[in-house]
Amino acid sequence: MTTQSNKNIVIGISGGIAAYKSAQLVRGLIKRGITVRVCMTPAALQFMTPLTFQALSGHPVHTDLLNPDAEAGMGHIALARWADLVVIAPASADLMARLSMGLANDLLSTLCLATTAPVHLAPAMNHRMWSHLATQANLNTLIQRGVIIHEPEIGQQACGEVGMGRMLAPDDILKQCLKALQPRKQGVLQGKQVLLTAGPTREAIDPVRYISNRSSGKMGYSIARAARDLGAKVTIVSGPVALRAPQKVTVVSVESAAEMHQATLDYAASADIFIATAAVSDFSTEDVFSKKIKKSGDCLTLELKQNADILYDTSHQYPQLFSVGFAAETDNLMVYARDKLQRKKLDMIVANPVGEGKGFDQATNQLEIIWKEGHLSLPEKDKQTLAHELMAIIVEHYNRLNS
Ligand code: PMT
Repeated sequence: MTTQSNKNIVIGISGGIAAYKSAQLVRGLIKRGITVRVCMTPAALQFMTPLTFQALSGHPVHTDLLNPDAEAGMGHIALARWADLVVIAPASADLMARLSMGLANDLLSTLCLATTAPVHLAPAMNHRMWSHLATQANLNTLIQRGVIIHEPEIGQQACGEVGMGRMLAPDDILKQCLKALQPRKQGVLQGKQVLLTAGPTREAIDPVRYISNRSSGKMGYSIARAARDLGAKVTIVSGPVALRAPQKVTVVSVESAAEMHQATLDYAASADIFIATAAVSDFSTEDVFSKKIKKSGDCLTLELKQNADILYDTSHQYPQLFSVGFAAETDNLMVYARDKLQRKKLDMIVANPVGEGKGFDQATNQLEIIWKEGHLSLPEKDKQTLAHELMAIIVEHYNRLNS
């Protein structure tokens, strides 16, 4: 069991049925030698009694902002200074809204404003409340400010409905807290910049129609998270996707292949490693209709022109970059991939079989990693696990080339 003595955590509890699960979280932290102080909002008191958390933490529970007795001892500023980490579990929609606005209308929200410790939130709420635009906007504001989110899970909710919004299991929150308290190891890509392209591009036909493909961006965003975890400064030039920007990663949003081409060349100037996971449209319309095309006749002919190859241009313009391409193939995977490796002047190419429900917009993928002198297969797995394995291989080759 990992222990973390000499560390102090404030567990914040806001109003929600998941508040009972926080008892297990507090217990787990105490078992690992961490000193825990619990702070409950007035709404949380409707769900759990402070006595439970006092018994588990061994300290009185903090509930009032303007309590003269508390302020004489461990007042809100002292508590904010004392904490190495503030973890709010459950974090209700109301609490997230108040934090995003910077309100200080109870002890917990005031403490979050006053602390310099990292703040983690484990949201828990009805799935419709979670997906509401207001909650998502508050979530994005908090993420941009550096708050770490322990994403809720999909499942049966206390209200009987099924959806995303169930608080992450206490043991999983505990693991992330312990990781956050560990002294930071220097990542192997510390001081390096990784640039990625991800997602599809959209080539306009008229003001409402476009040519695109099924790329979800999941593969690229997973690799971005893996590179960030290795200490790199990561930028994704991203086509339109329905994914949230990974924490501490810069996302440059573009739409067309031409916009992706321009943005990638701009950012490549300062990058060390370039990974092209985007499914870039090879063609765009010669002319974009200025008005919505009307139905007339039985067929419509569109004249298409070839788009510039972003990967080719980037690897040729910046030969010092360690360039990794992707090859999405329905057949002759290895032959076509090796051809792209050579033709696009790459250090490595990652081939994945696509079509028949593979690759595009899937949670899993299967990779063949090819370089000039060798080849390695990664069997089908979830994209995040593959991304970590792929980044380890990229780092090994990058270091070999630059040592
Ligand atoms: O986004 P997901 O849903 O997670 O799916 C992931 C994926 C299947 C899209 C991804 O793993 C993948 O294979 N991406 C590359 C898709 C592709 O367009 O491959 P390609 O064989 O057509 O292109 C070869 C390489 O050249 C790619 O690195 C591509 O980004 C790049 N390219 C292609 C055309 C172009 N005009 N510019 C480019 O940079």
